Amino acid sequence: MYRSHNCGELRIADVNKEVTLAGWVQKSRDKGFMIWVDLRDRYGITQLIFDEARTDAQVMQLAKSLGREYVIQVKGTVIERESKNNNIPTGDIEVLVKELTILNEAQLPPFTIEDETDGGEDIRMKYRYLDIRRNPVKNSLLFRHKVTQEVRNYLSNLDFCEIETPYLIKSTPEGARDFVVPSRMNPGQFYALPQSPQTFKQLLMVAGMDRYFQIVKCFRDEDLRADRQPEFTQIDCEMSFIEQEDILNVFEGLTRHLLKKFHNIDIDKFPRMTYDEAMRTYGNDKPDIRFGMKFGELNAVAQHKDFAVFNNAELVVGIAVPGAASFTRKEIDALIDWVKRPQVGASGMVYVKCETGGHYKSSVDKFYDQEDLAKWAEITGAKEGDLILILCGPANKTRTQLSALRMELGNRLGLRKPDEFAPLWVVDFPLLEWDEETGRYHAMHHPFTSPKREDIHLLDTDPGKVRANAYDLVLNGNEIGGGSIRIHDKATQELMFKHLGFTPEQAQQQFGFLMNAFQYGAPPHGGLAFGLDRLVAILAGQETIRDFIAFPKNNSGRDVMIDAPAPIDQAQLDELNLAITLKD
Ligand code: AMO
Repeated sequence: MYRSHNCGELRIADVNKEVTLAGWVQKSRDKGFMIWVDLRDRYGITQLIFDEARTDAQVMQLAKSLGREYVIQVKGTVIERESKNNNIPTGDIEVLVKELTILNEAQLPPFTIEDETDGGEDIRMKYRYLDIRRNPVKNSLLFRHKVTQEVRNYLSNLDFCEIETPYLIKSTPEGARDFVVPSRMNPGQFYALPQSPQTFKQLLMVAGMDRYFQIVKCFRDEDLRADRQPEFTQIDCEMSFIEQEDILNVFEGLTRHLLKKFHNIDIDKFPRMTYDEAMRTYGNDKPDIRFGMKFGELNAVAQHKDFAVFNNAELVVGIAVPGAASFTRKEIDALIDWVKRPQVGASGMVYVKCETGGHYKSSVDKFYDQEDLAKWAEITGAKEGDLILILCGPANKTRTQLSALRMELGNRLGLRKPDEFAPLWVVDFPLLEWDEETGRYHAMHHPFTSPKREDIHLLDTDPGKVRANAYDLVLNGNEIGGGSIRIHDKATQELMFKHLGFTPEQAQQQFGFLMNAFQYGAPPHGGLAFGLDRLVAILAGQETIRDFIAFPKNNSGRDVMIDAPAPIDQAQLDELNLAITLKD
């Protein structure tokens, strides 16, 4: 038996017990005649004491050789501590050691294994197994486990059946690039790793499985950000014989359950907003509604004066920043520079200070009088003490820029409180999205999403106006899930592919398997997928998903611990019938 107890377990009631513990040396203090060692494992820390007067001399000697992160086993007696430590649950006791075995020595770790470490991001990624020994990372993984377990139980109790789908598949178009895997047995042919199990879960509905879920790895070769990893995990779900309302209810229920379980928060009904409203009010399809600063459109009151910049713009739009009238000229200039950075791309910004006594002071006082500015304040909801910030230009671009500014100010002003949770359904997404680069429409969600019946007639005349039965669940400004009601008949699916620019042959070649299946009795169906990494991070009050993944990739998509990706042998290339030509 390696241990009778773990390192987080012993209490004052255990005094006088003979125990065996095993773990890592967190630190040791050597007073010569007395040595204290903090012994750590996943469950906590227990203080060991080696005392010249009570511990064997040989054991004493061995204890002096212990270094940080040595793996040891001790046998001893639980005793009451003289000076108690209220910061840890085992702080009332210590173990007086009688026997010590060094199970494994350890090199000095490249950074301290403490909650606040001296190790930078790169070194911690390289030695991730050491990083995981630290409480913040360990606790994130334990939290992820708890969330995952809750999700699994919740869905299983609702008759969802967890079914695994293959990882070596054919490309499913979800908007990102595929990771591909060469086939040795089929020279010149490739599998793709799934961007999601989308088509398989639909086939499971055709197969009559009725309610499916899977906690599943998905792979997308896209540019990385704090909330994106090339391999990530979805809680993927699909249901048959349902309408959009049924799906929203089930997953609202799941999210409500998680918020109650982990934060004891009761949220009655999640608000809903159409995509159009979200874009007009927040310039964003995943608005953080924990704070205000709603957009006020000012065209009607700011145009047709002498200010050409506004007159020539498609959209003039502003937000009222609470309490920011006190910003100095320097602070406002810095904000103007911030919106002019290429990442945001605004050409300039107009501001109005709403000063006490109902007086307005603006950067465009030359063109607008107090009455004009009062109207701006009314539309943006600005009160005394607020600062109105206004951008103008092409509508979509300007909304995106103002949205970036709103989020930045939300962060700076501490309005995005990590312990506050504001879920929101965004519904009625457009079916198609115009892509400037390729000069054609793309499916905004994916090609299997059904158009709203009442909008189908617009497919030929005004495709951009067709709305889809598609929805996203947004939590604190992050898209944590998305889904749709699917097309379940061959004719509509063919029509959809036609509008996406596929020839009938291309559609048949790529998606014949799905359209054929639809001819064998496909039930009406739909579903959704949550991003598990994002859900867990946000439930923990954070936004960087890397911290909730045991072995994540860095921003260049590399695993710096195992040093992947890496070249492969010529022999392996030959076997796969691959010849590599590197372009410089
Ligand atoms: P979608 O592409 O919206 O839908 O993905 C679902 C959810 O997965 C998460 N997500 C990611 N998380 C981390 N890193 C990434 N690179 C990443 N990409 C997406 C997001 C997102 O909301 N098959 C459909 C679902 C359906 O229609 O049922 C799909 O994959 O939280």
